Amino acid sequence: MRFSTFLTLAVSATAAAATPFLKATEFLNPKPPNLMADNVPEPKYFREASLNGHCDYRFYKADIDEAEHQEGLRLLVQTYLHVCNELKIQTWLMHGSLLGWWWGKKIMPWDLDVDVQVTESDMYYLAAYYNRTEFYYVQRGTGQGRTYLLDVNPHHVYRGRDDKLNVIDARWIDTTNGLYIDITAARYDLDHEQGEGMLYDKHNHEYRDTYIFPLLETTFEGVTAKIPYKYKDMLISEYTVEGLTDKEYHGHVFDEEEMKWVKAGM
Ligand SMILES: *[C@@H]1O[C@H](CO)[C@@H](O)[C@H](O)[C@H]1NC(C)=O
Repeated sequence: MRFSTFLTLAVSATAAAATPFLKATEFLNPKPPNLMADNVPEPKYFREASLNGHCDYRFYKADIDEAEHQEGLRLLVQTYLHVCNELKIQTWLMHGSLLGWWWGKKIMPWDLDVDVQVTESDMYYLAAYYNRTEFYYVQRGTGQGRTYLLDVNPHHVYRGRDDKLNVIDARWIDTTNGLYIDITAARYDLDHEQGEGMLYDKHNHEYRDTYIFPLLETTFEGVTAKIPYKYKDMLISEYTVEGLTDKEYHGHVFDEEEMKWVKAGM
């Protein structure tokens, strides 16, 4: 199979499950998990390497330097966005990644992770059909391939905000080094005091759905990507106006010509 983008999706779907789609009523009112009784939290599903919290313990091999980390994140977000585009999953950039988009449509050099969200129904779709699926990508130019694993947390069906060990609903993992990006679902709060249309994630971020939808199409790290409709309001509320205008940050300056952040004094 060949796609016109920079990547070739060579192999896929080693584990596509056949679980039928859940009925809407089931996912809007899931049963609270039994394990929450006696205030015992669910066991944590995703586990990180003890030596590096940015790596999945199953695939961590050795420490990765800054350059490899950056390159690994870039490939992760490119392949993730590509696969979501292919599978018609609605996903959008949030937080630090949305800020990176604002500043030149790239991951910023000091970012150690990537923030993406999907709708709750797409999380069910991914869980039902693509959980634990491996995707093999060959990087154009190098001929080198990497296998990426989509892993969906079974506790994503629990809608409460109190399962602090399972705030991450899914991960897209680079199996060559364990680096991953976190995927969280945006859920509707059905009895929010501010009425209908309030979304939340398990980090307790809240926003009205009109800030997110309709999503706007753009690119990020060279791949088709989506951002919230009111991206600027969302960025200002999280990072203030200065976060969107100050061209010096974290020992870096913003290079207008290159449209990227570079180390100060270089
Ligand atoms: C994904 O697959 C793993 C391995 O089979 C399983 O432990 C996990 O519960 C699955 N997640 C979901 C959402 O079903």
